[in-house]
Amino acid sequence: MARKIIIDTDPGQDDAVAMLLALAAPDVLDVIGVVVVAGNVPLARTVGNARKVLELAGRADIPLHAGCSRPTRRAPVTAEHVHGPTGLDGHAFPEPTMPVQPQHGVDYLIEVLTREPAGSITLCTLGPLTNVALALVKAPSIAPRIREIVMMAGAEFEVGNITPAAEFNVYADAEAADVVLRSGVPITMIPLDLSHQVLSTRDRLDRIAAIGNRAGGAVAGMLSFSETFDRQKYGWNGAPLHDPCVIAWLLAPEMFGGRTINVRVETASALTYGATVADWWQITDLPRNVHYLRDVDAAGFYDLLTQRLARLP
Ligand code: BDR
Ligand code: CA
Repeated sequence: MARKIIIDTDPGQDDAVAMLLALAAPDVLDVIGVVVVAGNVPLARTVGNARKVLELAGRADIPLHAGCSRPTRRAPVTAEHVHGPTGLDGHAFPEPTMPVQPQHGVDYLIEVLTREPAGSITLCTLGPLTNVALALVKAPSIAPRIREIVMMAGAEFEVGNITPAAEFNVYADAEAADVVLRSGVPITMIPLDLSHQVLSTRDRLDRIAAIGNRAGGAVAGMLSFSETFDRQKYGWNGAPLHDPCVIAWLLAPEMFGGRTINVRVETASALTYGATVADWWQITDLPRNVHYLRDVDAAGFYDLLTQRLARLP
C-alpha cells in the first residue's frame, strides 16, 4: 500500500518539482493533502502556486489548505531574489481554478493526524515549519501519532544560504523549527549539505525537457529560471534541487546516506539566528533526534526524477 503523506510547502520552483515528483509516484506515495505556508513568497502567492502545480499534474482533487501567513514570532522573510516575484518564474501557468479548502492548514493537520490511524501519516515539509509547530503546540497529542517528519531544513558543513549561518527554511521561523526538533517525532532532515550536491545542470534539464510532456516542459522552464541565481551567485552549473530530495528519500532511500544524531537550532543570537547545530561527531550525549542525511547519488536522483516526471501529463 502506498505511504500516506501530507506535503507542507511554500512554492518555490524546487517545491513545485518536489510536489510533481510525489504526484508522479502514486504507487509508492499517496498525497492525501497539501498545506501551504508563507515562505519563499507571501502566502497568497504560495497558495496560488500550489494550486497551479496540482492542476498541472491533473490532481485538483487533492485537498489544499492555506496555513500560516507569517512566522510565529519574527517578521516574514521571503526569497524573491532566488525564485522571482511570483515564486514560480520560468513557466507560464494558467490561472488556477481549483478550490482552497475553508479549514485552516494547522487545524487540518490536527484533524487528519487525530482521525487517521496512529503512525500512518508522514509529513513532508518543504518550507518554514510554522504550520507543523503550531499544530504540535495546539494539539500535543498528535506528536506520537506522526509516523515521521521528512524536512528540507538546516545546514552544518555548507553553512547558510540566507545568512552566513542559517538555511532559509529554518531562518524564516527558527522558533517553529525548535518546537519541531524538540517534539520527539522521528525526523529525517535534508540539509544544504546534501541538496547542494544535486545541481540542475544543462544536460539534466535537457533530458527533462526532452520527455516532451507538460510537466517536463514546466520543470525545465522553472529550473532554467532558478538556476540563474545560483550560476551568478555561486558559479555553480545549475540550481540545487533542495525540496525534491525530501520526496526522493521516500522513493529511493538506498540513494542516500547519513547518521542519526542530535540537532538543535539557535533562536537567541542576533548573529547566528536560525543556525542548526548538528552534532555530527556525537560530541554530546544529547538525544539523537534527527536522521541527518548528508550523501546522495546525484546521477541516480536525476534518473529517478526524469523517469517519474515522464508519467505525468
Ligand atoms: C529552501 O529554501 C527555499 O528557498 C527552497 O524552496 C528550499 O525549501 C532551501 O534553503
Ligand atoms: Ca521550499
